[in-house]
Amino acid sequence: MKEIRNPELLQKWAAAQKRRSRTIGFVPTMGALHEGHLSLVRAAKKENDLVTASIFVNPAQFGPKEDLKKYPRPIQRDRELLRKAGVDIVFLPSAKTMYPEGFSLSIDPGPVGRILCGKFRPGHFAGVATVVAKLFNMAQPDKAYFGAKDYQQCVVIKNLVRGLDFDLQVKILPTIREKDGLAMSSRNIYLDSGERQRARAISQTLFWVRSQILSGRRDILKIKRQAIARLKPAVDRIQYFEIADPENLKSLGRYQLRMVVLTACLVGKTRLIDNVIMSGH
Ligand code: PAJ
Repeated sequence: MKEIRNPELLQKWAAAQKRRSRTIGFVPTMGALHEGHLSLVRAAKKENDLVTASIFVNPAQFGPKEDLKKYPRPIQRDRELLRKAGVDIVFLPSAKTMYPEGFSLSIDPGPVGRILCGKFRPGHFAGVATVVAKLFNMAQPDKAYFGAKDYQQCVVIKNLVRGLDFDLQVKILPTIREKDGLAMSSRNIYLDSGERQRARAISQTLFWVRSQILSGRRDILKIKRQAIARLKPAVDRIQYFEIADPENLKSLGRYQLRMVVLTACLVGKTRLIDNVIMSGH
């Protein structure tokens, strides 16, 4: 596995591979890797000749009161995991390289970036869209891999690729969970044991909603109210709990065939997000 820190070197490497007709799969991450990240790497390995992964804790997507400073950075461990997973290139840019002095450009993802998580994290999705656009131009992938765990992020990135005509395919892979259902996240390590127990209610409530709909209920507004009542006692705050259209994330008042159930909660001080996708039932 080769390490690259310089964007121009990464572009040169990518261009050389293209000349040899090798395809590149790209997995952007912020490190603190877990099985969720590694599932993306495995898919990228299967579907491409070469795999580039990036680790960059992107300051532009953190709010002023968020966890940028304390975000876990186990870089040696991450390197080892990527190497074992068969990654060809790990791209490790510095914040100065990504955002040189005077850099002030920002990609506005539009209305979809201002609802749900965007309401509670102003500027977050602009930070994501901007860094992902830069990373795409640096890594020059044929396919880029994202996890459904961050469902709204997936919608933002699909719009970005379509809207700015990136010549690449976006692949969305299923959420990887702990045995008890909790969605894997680099932030789960912030939870103490009591919080970790309480956090189970998040996925359990989402699965409950899914089971209600699968068993034939169509009264989604009532299901939503009941779900919130179930979740409320376990968590410290529900930022949102929505049943939405999977394409544009607009909140639904009525049942439809394809839906996504999304939530963001605080457990202690830790912000956790999760969702379930429902299609064709
Ligand atoms: P990060 O949180 O490190 O996640 C990197 C990728 O792993 C994202 O596509 C995310 O959706 C996916 N992922 C995280 N947890 C997952 C899980 N439990 N199952 C499946 N996939 C999972 O998302 C980011 O970084 C950043 O916003 C980034 C896209 C790198 C831009 O800075």
